[in-house]
Amino acid sequence: MKALILSGGKGTRLRPLTYSGAKQLVPVANQPILWYGIQGIVAAGITEIGIIISPETGEEVQSLTGNGDRFKANITYILQEEPAGLAHAVKIAQPFLKDSPFVMYLGDNLIQRPLNPFLQKFKAENLDGLILLRPVSNPSAFGVAQVDRRGKVLKLVEKPKDPPSNLALVGIYFFSPKIHEAIAQIQPSPRGELEITDAIQRLIECETAVESCTLEGWWLDTGKKDDLLEANRIILDTQLTPSILAQVDAQSQVIGRVQIGRGTKVVNCSIRGPVAIGENCYLENCFIGPYSSIADGATLIDVELEHSVILQGAKITGIHQRLVDSVIGRRAQLTVAPRRPKAFRFMIGDDSQIELV
Ligand code: TTP
Repeated sequence: MKALILSGGKGTRLRPLTYSGAKQLVPVANQPILWYGIQGIVAAGITEIGIIISPETGEEVQSLTGNGDRFKANITYILQEEPAGLAHAVKIAQPFLKDSPFVMYLGDNLIQRPLNPFLQKFKAENLDGLILLRPVSNPSAFGVAQVDRRGKVLKLVEKPKDPPSNLALVGIYFFSPKIHEAIAQIQPSPRGELEITDAIQRLIECETAVESCTLEGWWLDTGKKDDLLEANRIILDTQLTPSILAQVDAQSQVIGRVQIGRGTKVVNCSIRGPVAIGENCYLENCFIGPYSSIADGATLIDVELEHSVILQGAKITGIHQRLVDSVIGRRAQLTVAPRRPKAFRFMIGDDSQIELV
C-alpha cells in the first residue's frame, strides 16, 4: 500500500497568502497543514508516500518537508506542471504508484479520525475504490455521491447544480490499480480538469467494487480563511501539548495550555491558552487570547490578539483594539501610531482583505 498526497494546485481561495507560498504549508497550530496528513498516513502504517507538487511552490514544500525521515517515511516528490485536475495528478504519479493500491489524500484536508478502519475495510473487502463521505448543507460546492443503503456507490457528480444527495466527497480516497485504466478513459471536464469523480464514475460503470464510508468527527478543508481559523481552533483545542521553552519575564502571566518555542522572549504579556507561539519571536506588552497561533520569528508589541493565525516573521505593533479572526501573512507589517490614528497609510497586496470593524 502506498499514499499519494496532492500538494499542487492553485490555491486561489487562500489568496493573497498563496501568491508567495503553498497553501498546504500554511501553519495550523504552528505545523504545516500538509504534515498532519503525512502523520495520519504513517500512523495507518503506510510509509511509501508520493507528494504531488507544483512548479510554483514545489521547492518550498520539498525543502521544508524533506525526504520523510522526520516522519519515519519515504517521500518521493512528483512534479505536476499544471494543476490539470485530481485524476491528472494520479496519472502522472503512475510511475511511482506502479501496480500498488494506494490512498489518495488532498494535502489541504484535515480529519480527526484515524485512517486505519477505512484501510482495513478497503483491504478486507478487496475493493477497487473506497470513498469517504460527509453530509453537508451546501452539496453543490463539492463532489457529491449517491449511494445505496449499504454504502455502495451508485453515482458521482462534481459540483452539481441539482445535487442527488447531501453526501460530499471528503478529499480522501482508496484505490486499486484499476483506477489507472479508468483515468485513461476519461476526458477533461468543462472546467478543463481531469476529474477524479469522472474516473470513479467510470469504475462504477465497469461494475467494479466501489464503496463508501461516512466520516465521523471533524473534517476541515483548509482552502479558505475561515476554515483555516476553525482548523487552528480545533487543533489547539485537541492536540496542543503545553511546553514553555522561552524566556518569560516575571511581569508576564501565562494561563492555560500554552506552547512557546525556543529563543522566544515574552515581556510583560498576558497569554491565555490555548495558544501556540513559535521560536525566536518577540512579544512585549501584549494580550494573547485563546485560539491564537504565532509562527516563528514574529514580533508583536502593544497588541491584543485573539482567535488569529500570525505567519512567520510578521511584525505587529500598537494595535490596542482587539485583533480578532485574522490571518496575517509572512513578513507582513501592521503598525498603528501610539495615539489614536488620524490617518491610515497602507501598502496592501493584491486580494488582501482589511476590515476596520
Ligand atoms: P483544490 O482545493 O480543489 O484546488 P486548488 O488548490 O487549485 O485551490 P483553489 O480552489 O483555492 O484554487 O485542490 C485540492 C487539493 O489538491 C489541494 O491540496 C491542491 C491539490 N491539487 C493538485 O495537487 N493538483 C491539481 O491539479 C489540483 C486541481 C489540486
